[in-house]
Amino acid sequence: MSREPPPPSDLPRGVILPPTEANVALAAAFLRAGDVVGMPTETVYGLAADATDGEAVARIYEAKGRPSFNPLICHVTSLEEAERYAVFNDAARTLAQRFWPGPLTLVLPSREGSPISDLARAGLPTVALRVPAHAAARALIGATGRPIAAPSANLSGRISPTTARHVASDLGPKVAAIIDGGPCEAGLESTILGWRDSLPILLRHGAIPADEIELDALTAQTLSTDGNSVISPGQLLNHYAPIAQMQLNCDVPAPNSVFLSFGPLKCCFDAAITPVIPLSRAGELRECAARLFAAMREADALGPGTICVAPIPDHGLGVAINDRLRRAAAASAV
Ligand code: TXA
Ligand code: MG
Repeated sequence: MSREPPPPSDLPRGVILPPTEANVALAAAFLRAGDVVGMPTETVYGLAADATDGEAVARIYEAKGRPSFNPLICHVTSLEEAERYAVFNDAARTLAQRFWPGPLTLVLPSREGSPISDLARAGLPTVALRVPAHAAARALIGATGRPIAAPSANLSGRISPTTARHVASDLGPKVAAIIDGGPCEAGLESTILGWRDSLPILLRHGAIPADEIELDALTAQTLSTDGNSVISPGQLLNHYAPIAQMQLNCDVPAPNSVFLSFGPLKCCFDAAITPVIPLSRAGELRECAARLFAAMREADALGPGTICVAPIPDHGLGVAINDRLRRAAAASAV
């Protein structure tokens, strides 16, 4: 699709804007001009570009400092629009009807003649699509009138952003503007599903727990989370890395660490010496997911040698939370 001239604006690059209609229209004009913008979603903030404009998509990789071209998720406003870019099977359509708008991404064969750029798909014959639920994301995609490619708006390998400030601190003037949609409700990236030999396969644990998807055969084909079997490009272990070392499953934090707690504190350490950042005082997985990345950033900013993390139950949303924590721990160990 054609690129438009940049909108007149005397705002500094990287400015954080409330999601008013005028600001959304301005951000949409930046996108149609081939620029990149910080976009709130219900999962994490996205680094948005016009998916049909290869050069705009290249700016995403440039801004993130991504070493390689991973395929990106393309965000659209409806299932009808998604069907213009991908060939849906019956199960995919049923899932889209059930979970869209929402944090489910479907990887499907790209439709012949789709305007989505090769770079957004990293040259693959498939395309990853989702319809976000966040009102500001929907408004921005609608106002742009194009599919929007958006990976998480963090520097490559770093912790995903769940507030507009996180985006500003990672990317600053590399983005034209950031729409402030408040803290992300889910706080974890979307769950990604694809198909292989007509069988559904879970490509990434995420904000919709796998057991809620209730697809026969899905559990049999779940992506191994040891990071060795990379089925979905980009699902490498060295993601979500804080600067400090991470120690998982700590009932009691190590001395001089920062402790990410879950549930009530055990009485056998001195919280006056070891800063405690609660992931969820009540021990709720949904609250923990929403707070996880912000808590990791907050802990890292205190500059400890080690971030200790309390054990998180490995069911429901806890599966995706533990997946992100393992990746962070593995990345911080290298
Ligand atoms: O919640 C989310 O999904 C966020 C927000 C911004 O929407 N976006 C996000 O995008 O997490 P990103 O780029 O960080 O993750 C995209 C991942 C890739 O790393 C890859 O694993 C998978 O989606 N993916 C994309 N296209 C694919 C394809 N054609 N085949 C297999 N996997 C694909
Ligand atoms: Mg990411």
